[in-house]
Amino acid sequence: MIILSIETTCDDTAIAIVKYSNNNFKILSNVLSSQIKEHNAFGGVVPELASRCHIQNSIPVLDKALKNSKISQKNIDYIAITNKGGGLIGSQIVGVEMAKTISFILNKNIVQVNHIRAHSLAVFMDTENNRIRDIKFPIISLTASGGHTFIVLIKDFDNFKVIGRTIDDASGEAFDKVAKMLNLGYPGGPIISKYAKKGKNIIDFPRPMINSSNFDFSFSGLKTSVLYYLRDNKNYNIENVCCSFQEAVCDILTYKTIKAVKKYKPKSLIIAGGVSANIRLKELMKERLNNIEQKICFYHPDKLLTTDNALMVNINAYFLIQNKKIDNWKNIKSNSLRSI
Ligand SMILES: Nc1ncnc2c1ncn2[C@@H]1O[C@H](COP(=O)(O)OP(=O)(O)OP(=O)(O)O)[C@@H](O)[C@H]1O
Ligand SMILES: [Mg+2]
Repeated sequence: MIILSIETTCDDTAIAIVKYSNNNFKILSNVLSSQIKEHNAFGGVVPELASRCHIQNSIPVLDKALKNSKISQKNIDYIAITNKGGGLIGSQIVGVEMAKTISFILNKNIVQVNHIRAHSLAVFMDTENNRIRDIKFPIISLTASGGHTFIVLIKDFDNFKVIGRTIDDASGEAFDKVAKMLNLGYPGGPIISKYAKKGKNIIDFPRPMINSSNFDFSFSGLKTSVLYYLRDNKNYNIENVCCSFQEAVCDILTYKTIKAVKKYKPKSLIIAGGVSANIRLKELMKERLNNIEQKICFYHPDKLLTTDNALMVNINAYFLIQNKKIDNWKNIKSNSLRSI
């Protein structure tokens, strides 16, 4: 089975073509056109600019993906598109229209994928060995990205239950906004973690809601306390600010996730989304997991599968096809629901 997948929900135009046979896969092409340069000057993604860039980039990315795959278009079996689970509506529409057009021309069905679920299921792709990982359900997923932060109980490929969520900013957004305060550019996560490596965790930033009885998060107060710290300490050490901020975020994320693991007793724990690329997050999660009695398997996605990409959409579509969740282009509407 060959699936062509499209991802355009935010600032990446991405298309992948993957061939599956049972638990093995071959990535025939994986093309991504990033808009980081365009949005960098604004310290974050500008929605209208993102839509315009998708219009410009979509056909060249498609052309390259098809050429790189070296297959004939008629061998594509399904078109997968992110059309649920949030994103910028203008960006999403460009991808949805492209998917419908390809589906119409090739006369192939469409698989609609939820962007946030795709972030979680990306971890099933072992791109080093070209195999689908045998990850046992139920799974607890910490899904931490630029627009969302959830703790999710996943009972099956198509059965997701949110058990905790941020009540304000997403954790990735907090990284981006703190980087903006420090004039470090966009996206903030990778830059902050680079500075954090050379810093010390000596600033006592707060951990909002860490002791709340539920599994929810809050990052807006932490962000504000960084702002006040910078205002009140004009000679601040940038490395120490980054290190202490990163430590606070990772402490909150891992503490609440381990609490969920203790309560729900899953077989596996995964992390997902752009923030899951954070080395300190992975380190602290492993450390805390080793300190509890339950023995569960911990997985994190390959680096290229952490931030937005079309491979995560592809593998999610592959699982949905097994459950016959396929559609005709005539039934596809643009869906802007911000839910999992
Ligand atoms: N090493 C890192 N440490 C922390 N955060 C990181 C790291 N790398 C990337 N990020 C953050 O991940 C986010 C981007 O992730 P992703 O592409 O999954 O989010 P998004 O697609 O913009 O949002 P969503 O998926 O919620 O719609 C950015 O906020 C970025 O700062
Ligand atoms: Mg995303």
